[in-house]
Amino acid sequence: MDQLSVEHLLGIKYLNANDIDLIFKTADHFKEVINRPIKKVPSLRDITIANLFFENSTRTKLSFELAEKRLSADVINFSAGQSSVKKGETLIDTVNNILSMKVDIVVMRHGSVGAGVFLSNHVDAKIINAGDGTHEHPTQALLDSYSIREKLGSVKGKKIVIIGDILHSRVALSNIYALQLQGAQVKVCGPTTLIPKYITSLGVEVETNLKKALEWCDVANVLRVQHERMDIKYFPSTREYTQLFGINQEILNNLGKKIVIMHPGPINRGVEITSDVADSDQSIILSQVENGVAVRMAVIYLLAQQIKR
Ligand code: CP
Repeated sequence: MDQLSVEHLLGIKYLNANDIDLIFKTADHFKEVINRPIKKVPSLRDITIANLFFENSTRTKLSFELAEKRLSADVINFSAGQSSVKKGETLIDTVNNILSMKVDIVVMRHGSVGAGVFLSNHVDAKIINAGDGTHEHPTQALLDSYSIREKLGSVKGKKIVIIGDILHSRVALSNIYALQLQGAQVKVCGPTTLIPKYITSLGVEVETNLKKALEWCDVANVLRVQHERMDIKYFPSTREYTQLFGINQEILNNLGKKIVIMHPGPINRGVEITSDVADSDQSIILSQVENGVAVRMAVIYLLAQQIKR
């Protein structure tokens, strides 16, 4: 059987093109499964998975939980807000206590960059990074690429622009790695204050003019402004941000071509994207969410195949 080249999913940085291909082929199978009247397979009946969320989440947490249940795994959920982390327990102590309950796979979202790598070096379980601070969000990038492939036939040769708060975005970095591995061209567009200086060293071009960026691309992946990670002002006002970098129907109508609109969520309607665009037939935002379940089933299934019993 084909295997992933990695023991954990810590970031797209650690994957190769064959891994992505394998994940997508496996996800194709699971997408067919979850559209059947009986949406469940017994593949992981003897596997226990802990979902550890130290940061808020709607889509990723629910999507992982549903993926795990569709694979018939046993699932336990942990949210830092209602846990003994509030009483001063360390990450390693928290996780080791959970692992002593015979957990095989840990899905973790954490505010610190590298938290997944740290955990993988200290505990005996498969680790899946569900977002580590401003660093990587690998399953989001996989489901994003999978959705582009579904909509446009392939990712290879496509022109993708990632728009908005690149500086604080784990989605941006994971997308850049994933898209380039599959042979796409990537640009970023946003206020210069929200574009990290190192970005060009990744082979990504910077475009600060939204109209030019949209004219160039086949797909625009629009990001949320992450006010919660900002300790200083990066632009004068939200109104000015929306005027310069907000996507609305008028801008799209003037392009003379129909581009694909994506957003990882949660959306700030009326800030980075208007409601009419988010809900239009150009938007694949809800397909991204739907595909997230199949892609996460594929990642969990492939890592679980490596567990020795
Ligand atoms: N896309 C994403 O990570 O959304 P959540 O924060 O709701 O999980």
